[in-house]
Order: sequence, then structure tokens, then C-alpha cells
Amino acid sequence: MLNGHVIALGISGSISAYKAADLASKLTQAGADVDVLMTGAATRFITPLTLRSITRRPVFIDMFDPASELAEEHVEIARRATAVVVAPASASTIARLARGAATDVVSLTVLATLAPVLLAPAMDGQMWEAAATQANIETLRERGYVVVGPDEGRLASGRMGLGRLVDTETLLGALKQTLGRDGDFAGRRLVVSAGGTREPLDPVRYISNYSSGKMGYALAEAARDRGAAVTLVSTVTERPCPYGVRLVPVETVADMREAVLTACDGADALIMAAAVSDYRPAERAVRKVKKGPEEKLLALEKNDDFLLEIGGAIIKVGFAAETDDLLANARVKLDAKGLHLIAANDLTAEGSGFATDTNQLTIIDKAGEVEEVPLLSKYDAANRLLDRVAPLFDS
Ligand code: CTP
Repeated sequence: MLNGHVIALGISGSISAYKAADLASKLTQAGADVDVLMTGAATRFITPLTLRSITRRPVFIDMFDPASELAEEHVEIARRATAVVVAPASASTIARLARGAATDVVSLTVLATLAPVLLAPAMDGQMWEAAATQANIETLRERGYVVVGPDEGRLASGRMGLGRLVDTETLLGALKQTLGRDGDFAGRRLVVSAGGTREPLDPVRYISNYSSGKMGYALAEAARDRGAAVTLVSTVTERPCPYGVRLVPVETVADMREAVLTACDGADALIMAAAVSDYRPAERAVRKVKKGPEEKLLALEKNDDFLLEIGGAIIKVGFAAETDDLLANARVKLDAKGLHLIAANDLTAEGSGFATDTNQLTIIDKAGEVEEVPLLSKYDAANRLLDRVAPLFDS
């Protein structure tokens, strides 16, 4: 989604400046043109050559450079940027921005731009907590700047505390959310379920399925990037929650049912991407079940289908992962569960299904129309499904 964007990346003097190289690299790989701006202090921590090599573009340091190709350099960079990211933002850069002092290329560009500005503070914990820094950050927040972090952890001083630059993934998430805040899902509340539910047999064993949660997470990110406020009800523990998404961690079907029903109150749409267990063990042992000489039969009870319980004005979208009779099975589920759309996917198809990074969806609507979406990354496939959800809000 960063294709065609021009991101002005301001780097100020902090030991974490080396991490800005990773950000510049990821932004470039994602298709953005990156204009790097460095304060004099930043050049003491990381070389302009590194950034120039990564972005394959000139790096701006000197605001009075007579050799510059750009006439009013800072104004031109500020004008063409679709977002300005200051990472790391040191305490003194934050102070300059709060004062509106334009004494280097970074503060000049921030002052001159009309694009959204993201700040990722990084400094020692005591500097972050200092009354002056806190007041400056508050001022900048009130002016609409997006402040991301800082994180807590080990600082360059060796102490633990708040002051670490957030990781690149978080910053990219915050940037995408900011760029998409006026998208076609702006003002919409979306609930997404993800992962496979786990039904415990005893304290060490459970029944589950192979769902990785990747499709649900891709949907949550894609909806966030189009302006939605997203609640993600997820069983997945090994994947970080996308930035800006509200995570409700769950384990069993009963947990998921309760979390989804609560989150759906006042929501505009529900997308059930989770693979929900149809059965649970009739008994859950409190202590570990020990082996014996006899065979064991597992008695299972049926779980209720909670998609059926959700009514009202909400748009409901289900998934049907099948190995046989894909379209016929998906159509039956669409009707039986009262869905607006169902996304069917053939688990036997190459590149589709659980744990893959790609998916080939077949979307069926209430009228029975079938849309064959090609094999795409799960993020792109999620956007194709959201393209079908958006028009339903107004119908
Ligand atoms: N679903 C649900 N509650 C359940 C079971 C499923 O809300 N107890 C939702 C799933 O999240 C999915 C859709 O219903 O969006 C279809 O789920 P699936 O497991 O494919 O269908 P089932 O109705 O359980 O049928 P079967 O397992 O026999 O294919």
C-alpha cells in the first residue's frame, strides 16, 4: 500500500538512529520513495551514505546547500511528502518541533509540511520522563502529530525504562494506519475473528485445527489501513497484534463466542475468519489424564454456531474452508448462517488454505453471484474481500 507514496524520513541524533536504516529499507521495499533528512547530530551516529545507498536517493543534511538541485529544498520535500516520519525523534528535536523552531532540515520540513507527521521518540528514560519532554509531546499530540512509542526495555545507558525506539513493524503499521485514516472504512467498526479455537481435554492437551490466523490478521491490517477501528478476537499467541488494532485474546469456542458477541455490539461488520471447533470434549479433566492399558473413547459435545446468534444491522461475512464440493458447501453455509458474503477457499488448491502466505478466495454473495479472486497474498486477498464489504454499508 506504500506504492506511490513519498515518505520524508527525518533522522535525529539518538543511538537508535541505526534502526532508521532498517525503516528506510522496508519503506523502499514496500514501494515508497524515501527522502531522508538528517540533523547534524544524526550524521554522528549513522552515515548519510548508508541511507543514500538504501534509498537510492539523495540525502538532505544541509539546509543551505548551494549545490542542491531543489530550489527551496525543505519546502519542496515538505510539499511532495505524503507523510513525514521522524524516527528516531530525540528530546531536543521534539523540543524544537514543539517550539516551531526551524533550525535544521528535519524541523524545517515538519514545520513546512501539510502531510501527516509521525514521531517515534527515542532517548534515555529520564529524558523521556522529564517534565519538559512530556509537555512538548503533549503539545505535539494536541496539534495532531501521531506519536508512536517509545517502547519499554533496555536502554543504551544500560538501565531499563521507557525510551526505546519502537520496532520497524510497529512504525510501518502506524504509518499505514495514518495514511489510510480517511479511507472507505473510516468511521466503521469491524470485528474480525482469527485462528483456530482450542478445546482443552485436560491441563496438557487440547483439540484444535491447523488454522494459523494469517488470513484474519491480514483482514485486520487491511481494514485498519482503510480507516476502520478493528477489534481482533484471536486464539493466536505467537503473532504480534497489528499496530492500532484492539486485540481480544481467547482460547475456546465459548470464549470466542462471548468476545465476538460483545465486540459486535454497535459494530458495522463481522468477518469470521476463525476456524471454530464444531465439537468440544464432553468432559474436561482438572488433572492430567494418565495412560492405562485400556482403549479410550472421546465423547464430544456440539458447540453452537454463534454466527447465527448475531443479528441486527451488522454485515456478516463467513469463511468456508473445504476439501470437497467447495461452492455447494459454501452456498449452504451462506444461507444457513444468514451471511451477506462468504469467502470460500479450497484447502486442496496449491498456495491456498492454512499457514500459507497466499490465498485464492471465491466470494459468493446473497444473490448467488460468484467472484473468483486470483491467488494473491493474504493482505491483497483481504482487500478484495473488503472491496465487497464496503458497498454493503450503504445498501
Ligand atoms: N462458525 C461459527 N461458529 C461455529 C462454527 C463456525 O461462527 N460454531 C463460522 C466460522 O468462523 C466460519 C463459518 O462459520 O466463518 C463456517 O465455518 P465452518 O467450520 O467452515 O462451517 P461449519 O458450519 O462448522 O461446517 P463444517 O465444519 O461441517 O464444514
